Amino acid sequence: MHYSLVLLPGDGIGPEVVREAELTLAALAPVFRFSLTFETHLMGGCAIDATGQPLPAATLAACRSADAVLLGAVGGPKWSDPAAKVRPEQGLLALRKELGLYANLRPVKIFPQLINASSLKPETLAGVDMLVVRELTGGAYFGPQKEGDDEAYDTMLYTRGEIERVVRVAARAAQTRRGHLTSVDKANVLASSRLWRKTTAQIMAAEFPDVTLEHQLVDAMAMHLIRRPAGFDVIVSENLFGDILTDEAAMLAGSMGMLPSASLGDGANGVYEPIHGSAPDIAGQGIANPLATILSAAMMLRHSLGQEAAAQAIETAVEMALAAGYRTPDLAGVAAPDQATEVVGTAAMGAVVRENLRIISNSKQADIASD
Ligand code: IPM
Ligand code: MG
Repeated sequence: MHYSLVLLPGDGIGPEVVREAELTLAALAPVFRFSLTFETHLMGGCAIDATGQPLPAATLAACRSADAVLLGAVGGPKWSDPAAKVRPEQGLLALRKELGLYANLRPVKIFPQLINASSLKPETLAGVDMLVVRELTGGAYFGPQKEGDDEAYDTMLYTRGEIERVVRVAARAAQTRRGHLTSVDKANVLASSRLWRKTTAQIMAAEFPDVTLEHQLVDAMAMHLIRRPAGFDVIVSENLFGDILTDEAAMLAGSMGMLPSASLGDGANGVYEPIHGSAPDIAGQGIANPLATILSAAMMLRHSLGQEAAAQAIETAVEMALAAGYRTPDLAGVAAPDQATEVVGTAAMGAVVRENLRIISNSKQADIASD
């Protein structure tokens, strides 16, 4: 099989972390007998500097025809003047909308070696393994908007069809996991949330009787996420609530530097990105954690390229790196009580993951030979 991928390194630490994921994918391809081509394009602040547009037409066209897109991060102080007409984030939102990527998958799993990284107690975190499915192309991000000097508004608008399709994605995921879905809304106040709740209940009863459905109000959900995070399997929510809850959920894992994401539509094409931002304060220093981007590449192999074994190999290689004590500075000193750790930079962490992949593939070949 051959796949053509588009890389959108973006701004800040984006290029550093995307580079490690690219090298990792390139190292993996021959082992799993597929080939890859990479095309790099501009998006975000760097695209504004070069073309005046956060999502240049050439970038969008390349993303449309690619098998999948790997994104670093966009934004930074240079482009964050609130009065600016164009902002890097507009590029990301336009890309999601143009590609029809309405379902954003954000898995939150605690690596046992990092259980001490969170500000929550280890006993609260035991067994945390959830998938947040955030609606990505509707709600207040895309509804009618006015930005006046004396009056401004954003509109949280949802149609039944927009709710149905993302709930189906979440429910199908629940069927392959522990069969439990929590739908988050604010139905006691918002009309769009009442439609959300009604539609979700109907779809689940009609199409997914095997999945248990629970409704939570978003404010209560913010509390439950830190009080009993292990009690959730799949969570589905509208765009803005999902944005907020996933930053909160990321803290269960201790570092934003560990969490990958996938943005999917109806086709196989998707955009894969770490959930962290461009971290301008550490950009260019070679110390950013590349694991969230490397794990995003694993999600890409799984969801867009149908290469499940390769995806699992990456995930195992990351676990091996953590188990061996390698830590980027965001996780320095985070270890089990008697575990020795070594602080490494972005490139060294990537190299450790690739060395582990080599070990995994050698043992895979030994297995094949002994069969
Ligand atoms: C995210 C980010 C984006 C969002 C920003 C950068 C526009 O916070 O992907 O969660 O709000 O969706
Ligand atoms: Mg966010």
